[in-house]
Amino acid sequence: MTLGEEILKSLEYNSEYRNIKINTENIIPSGADFVIEKRKNTQNDNVIVSESQTKIYVSSDTGKYMQSSDLKGLEQAISKCKKCPLGSTRKNFVFGTGNPKAKIVVIGEAPGRDEDEQGKPFVGRAGKLLTDILKSINLTREEVFIANILKCRPPDNRNPLPAEIDFCFPYLKKQMQLIDPDYVLAVGTFAGQTILNSRDTLGRMRGKIHTANFFGKDIKVVVTYHPAALLRNPNWKRPTWEDVKLFRDEFEKTLKH
Ligand code: URA
Repeated sequence: MTLGEEILKSLEYNSEYRNIKINTENIIPSGADFVIEKRKNTQNDNVIVSESQTKIYVSSDTGKYMQSSDLKGLEQAISKCKKCPLGSTRKNFVFGTGNPKAKIVVIGEAPGRDEDEQGKPFVGRAGKLLTDILKSINLTREEVFIANILKCRPPDNRNPLPAEIDFCFPYLKKQMQLIDPDYVLAVGTFAGQTILNSRDTLGRMRGKIHTANFFGKDIKVVVTYHPAALLRNPNWKRPTWEDVKLFRDEFEKTLKH
């Protein structure tokens, strides 16, 4: 039995692990140098096994944050998170900002340098563009809630690793449960793929209304280009405008009468 198989076998009892359905062959490249980090070893904990570059992190999650009954409590419960290495490289944990009872949640990828400095999402150049995009569909930042898939900045703004998403996405799901929105605008490929549990390209995800289920509730989702991508390629501004108009037409069916 390989080391990875041994770890996975020892975790077989755990339902959270079974939900993640990690395939050993995918996460354990042959010859990799493994680091096994077992922070706590109680049979009833939720154990998450994941891989970051050549390291496997086995960390236990007591799931206490799941008992938070409001966003402030949740932020306190998770903001010292060290489940993945980004917990040691971040300056600030970026929980998200906005209306705690928003009907609309905007979801980006991960904090960049400015967000890491300030502890707030979308405060740099891309953030200014996001504010303008929201304004164009009659929304202010204060009336929506803005958050990211990852709460901590990946070094040099590299793409999120699958392991980091595995660790962090449960926090966003809990935020969604507490906020209880009806609509999500997901900006960028990672946000779209994570929210829709899809591997599709942005081109295939954009331009339509999707449904995603969070805690038993169906939420309408539109995926569009990330504002940082629009700064690099202004040709994507027109399709973005089409997507956000579609989003506006959808949320105006129930909001903003
Ligand atoms: N890009 C994101 O996806 N999120 C931020 O908060 C900032 C830039």
